[in-house]
Amino acid sequence: MKNTPQDLSAIISEILPQIEIYLQDSMEGNGKVLHQELASKLSAELNLNKWIREGGIDVHSVSDFLKTYLDNSQRMHHPHYIGHQVSSNHLASAVADFISGAVNNPMAIYEMGPSGAVIEQTIINWMLEKAGWFAGDNIEDFSHHSGNGSGVLTHGGSMANLTALLAARARISPEAWDEGNPGDLVVMGSEVAHYSIARAISIIGMGSRNLVTVPTTSMEVLKPEHLEERYKYAVENGKRVMAVVANACATSTGLYDPIDEIGEFCNEHDLWFHVDGAHGASALVSEKENHFMKGLHRADSMIWDTHKMLRTTTLCAAVLFKDGKSLANTFQQKGSYLFHDKEKPGFDLMPYTIECTKAGIGTKLFWVLAAEGEKGLADYIDHQYTITRKFYDLISAHDDFECPYYPEANIICFRYKSGEDSNAYQLNIRNELVKRANYYITSTEVNGVRYLRMTVINELTKVHHIEGLLAEIVEIANL
Ligand SMILES: Cc1ncc(COP(=O)(O)O)c(C=O)c1O
Repeated sequence: MKNTPQDLSAIISEILPQIEIYLQDSMEGNGKVLHQELASKLSAELNLNKWIREGGIDVHSVSDFLKTYLDNSQRMHHPHYIGHQVSSNHLASAVADFISGAVNNPMAIYEMGPSGAVIEQTIINWMLEKAGWFAGDNIEDFSHHSGNGSGVLTHGGSMANLTALLAARARISPEAWDEGNPGDLVVMGSEVAHYSIARAISIIGMGSRNLVTVPTTSMEVLKPEHLEERYKYAVENGKRVMAVVANACATSTGLYDPIDEIGEFCNEHDLWFHVDGAHGASALVSEKENHFMKGLHRADSMIWDTHKMLRTTTLCAAVLFKDGKSLANTFQQKGSYLFHDKEKPGFDLMPYTIECTKAGIGTKLFWVLAAEGEKGLADYIDHQYTITRKFYDLISAHDDFECPYYPEANIICFRYKSGEDSNAYQLNIRNELVKRANYYITSTEVNGVRYLRMTVINELTKVHHIEGLLAEIVEIANL
């Protein structure tokens, strides 16, 4: 392929019908949901060594390459893809990726990508509005209203959590940026806070042992009545609490921590309250489900992935702050605030992110919204949350299965109960399912007990698909 627009056009025209058939097949549920070869075999089948050494891929060879590539993919649009918290993306989001790839505007400096930059800021305003942290009249208002929040898009929720904790540190210990951590800071959170929280604490240099865990229920929901004693324990040991983290929702179960009660505790003690809404913050878009985020007004920061429940391609997350100044303070930059001043037409995000060169990832969500509108997105979330409850009813009514809790978000844990009572037994079922690849689900431990787990993230997954899954599990169990 030559580096010309004509060759690009020719290659895209060549592969588009192949991609169309692949997606259509996936959406119709034809064939396996996943095909995985041994890495060394797949590498050979893709001819990777040859292509990397010699180059020369062109319009004549691209189809063969793509066929192998697609044959060895996880089919995210297959109704039997009910696995991880990664979207079965709206295809409009792929348009954003193509345009971004073609124009390649790293927009952290406004002049390097005005469209990408203005789309990101408008998307941030839209998300702030959903969080209740936007004070402007409409989301195209970029002025610095008092009462306005702030935020930035990052490459994923892990980076967003890290940014939020850096902001919390900047508040309690602004000198740490130059002098290093004071050594007495801890973060409080659930025992099952996503691992990116413990990692962020380590990356910041606090040491992951300085996550003071708060006990949870048997279903791993943080018990707010234990906050006071854990706080006292930290203080009596000479520690200062930098932040308290809530799950919204927990990765394993999809259950929400009680945000309102945790927030009340934090506000009483003047503690930074961070809500990890990587998955569950999308309930904010739905009038029916947004009660799960009740109490968010008490938080200082939150994160929200778009590649989970907002239907975008990987990878995009937001870190949002209630106080507009929090983002500006995070990296101790001198100079102008995020919003543009008079002599500049736009805003430079670079001082406000970990990333230096940053892709225009806001376009991914923009395209989903531009296709469906916010009502369409709300309908999707309503549908996924509602049908998950139906699936729960179906599974728990089945003689051979049990579900340990009623789902809040679109995540269900369940066990085959008519077999051996061990964690290994459930894991073997999952392994056999993945080997057969008719269905793709995951597995997790909740409070030491292993469950099969599904994330109902694909709008095409219906009751009869779940019936088929249960039948296959029964078949596997009776082998
Ligand atoms: C609660 C929670 N926080 C953070 C993350 C990390 O997000 P990402 O995979 O976008 O880095 C996840 C991922 O599943 C999550 O469930």
